[in-house]
Amino acid sequence: MTGHQDAGATGARVRHYYDANTWKFLVSGNQRAIHRELWGPGVTSADEAVHHAHTLVLDELGPADSRVLDLGCGVGTTALHLAQRRPVEVVGVSISPAQVRLAQRFAARNERLQGSVRFRTADFTDLPHELTGFDLAVAIESFVHADPAAAFFREAARALRPGGALVVIDDFRLCAPSDPRLSDVRDGWHMATLLSEPEAARLAAAAGLDLQVSRDLSSLQRLGRPRDRLVRAAQPVLRRLRSRSVWAQSMVGGDALQRCHRQGLLAYRLLRFVRGS
Ligand SMILES: C[S@@+](CC[C@H](N)C(=O)[O-])C[C@H]1O[C@@H](n2cnc3c(N)ncnc32)[C@H](O)[C@@H]1O
Repeated sequence: MTGHQDAGATGARVRHYYDANTWKFLVSGNQRAIHRELWGPGVTSADEAVHHAHTLVLDELGPADSRVLDLGCGVGTTALHLAQRRPVEVVGVSISPAQVRLAQRFAARNERLQGSVRFRTADFTDLPHELTGFDLAVAIESFVHADPAAAFFREAARALRPGGALVVIDDFRLCAPSDPRLSDVRDGWHMATLLSEPEAARLAAAAGLDLQVSRDLSSLQRLGRPRDRLVRAAQPVLRRLRSRSVWAQSMVGGDALQRCHRQGLLAYRLLRFVRGS
């Protein structure tokens, strides 16, 4: 860890989860992204659907923006995608050293990007002090791990220049926090934070970040793909295995996530916050 203290208990659990499982996400996923497909307008293939979140982020990048911070960068797919398309420098941070090693390896294969993408192990609730002055910070499916969410917003605000933007793409709660139907998804996906949008907006505002854009992306998800139906069918076995296997727990979480979306308990949103001057 490179911030002022070691990750807390949640951070340690999340780090272990991604250190142990990232290779499985890469084998079972697509395009080395650890986020869901979005079937937006004009998207015709699963590859494009995986990159649709990146297209949305590119849309948020101002013409003069040159420094991007990826909070919870996985294996660097977002950073590489952005730097290949715009003249930007991207710094990615992940709590998982295994992911950072992979991100560095993937980046090294692309000579043209040498110097424009960098990755480091860090906790986004306690960022290294030298990470400042960014034009855009982005968090794709990582905000739900933030513990506490207030610290995530505080650190993002500190890392941004005045007027810089934070784009969060993630699940937000539409039901009561105590709704028991959320517990499998919280446990399986190690979600520390499953806030409603107004709760997130309040915490962000306390950190000096104003919510300016909210887009509901829920209808762009494709729930119940053949792979999801397989995972569904395997639930009895996966549920028995989950106390011994974080992978099985994650498969139970993924199935529960789909159920929560179908039942209207969660919304998948893009929120854009801007740091005041
Ligand atoms: C679902 S993955 C998404 C990865 C990447 N954004 C993508 O879309 O491919 C969640 C990411 O958040 C990171 N993460 C979770 N908690 C974190 C923390 N406290 N500090 C930094 N990264 C964290 C994980 O290590 C992982 O890279």
